[in-house]
Amino acid sequence: MNDSAERSELSAPIWEFSDDSSTRAIVAYARGLISMVSSTLAEASSSPDELICDAVTVRFGGLTALDSVSFRIRGGEIFGLIGPNGAGKTTLTNVLSGFQKPSAGSVHLCGERIPDDQPHIVARRGIARTFQGGRVFPSLTVAENVEASALSVGASRNEARSSVEELCNWIGLTARLKTTASSLPYTDQRRLGIVRGLALKPKFLLLDEPAAGMSDGEAADLVESITKIPALFGCGIMLIEHNMQIIMNVCERVHVLDFGKTIAEGTPAEMQSHPEVLSAYLGKEDG
Ligand SMILES: Nc1ncnc2c1ncn2[C@@H]1O[C@H](COP(=O)(O)OP(=O)(O)OP(=O)(O)O)[C@@H](O)[C@H]1O
Ligand SMILES: [Mg+2]
Repeated sequence: MNDSAERSELSAPIWEFSDDSSTRAIVAYARGLISMVSSTLAEASSSPDELICDAVTVRFGGLTALDSVSFRIRGGEIFGLIGPNGAGKTTLTNVLSGFQKPSAGSVHLCGERIPDDQPHIVARRGIARTFQGGRVFPSLTVAENVEASALSVGASRNEARSSVEELCNWIGLTARLKTTASSLPYTDQRRLGIVRGLALKPKFLLLDEPAAGMSDGEAADLVESITKIPALFGCGIMLIEHNMQIIMNVCERVHVLDFGKTIAEGTPAEMQSHPEVLSAYLGKEDG
């Protein structure tokens, strides 16, 4: 039997025993089923809680700072981004947060493309970041810094004040609420940067070397707080950190850049023994 004969034989019972209206009803029902199945499949493949970096390239004149970098961060995951100085980590953070327009490629959050040159819109859509050098509003108090963040994503004054109380209590800044940010000790400025990001109620928080310049004890305290963020605040984290011990201890997966290119991605244990990672990054640190 050829294909069309087989099709007509299989469909025959429906067409033979149906009048026009019942045929239409069956067809409508079948179409409904098909559309239900295909929309479920589409949702499954668009992975609603992922942050996707898709083939991102950034050129500064003749320098290619990022060369077609792609990865996915899952909701609630702590994802490490590592690489030697100048590898492109901060440039990538700038792209993911809308501060740097890529020369090519795109960023997608929860199935939707995010605008590539509007940081305030990206923040409202759910991607918050901290800056490598800290960067808080220096002349505002701690409370005002956090409140300003919450208000910027549409919180009411009361909600913003609750955020200040909750977040500063959690990170240990309650005693400093009225202190001007510029007069905070360095480690507290870094903490303030993190709670300012969390006040945006992000789906993903990008942390650019949050423990840089801290003593081992201070860094350990901060990292302990960072590991609690996904469960407490329901967001995923991208963590840039030069301290390999921190990355190995807290990240589920690690993406490694060197000279703007991806050289590896995998679990911390896999990265520890990956030859290219060892020579590009760990090797340089050890040597
Ligand atoms: N605005 C810019 N204009 C020109 N070149 C830039 C600019 N920003 C970054 N670069 C260059 O792009 C490359 C990647 O820099 P980037 O700051 O992203 O690296 P990084 O991995 O964050 O380094 P580090 O570990 O030192 O923070 C470097 O060669 C840097 O000099
Ligand atoms: Mg950097």
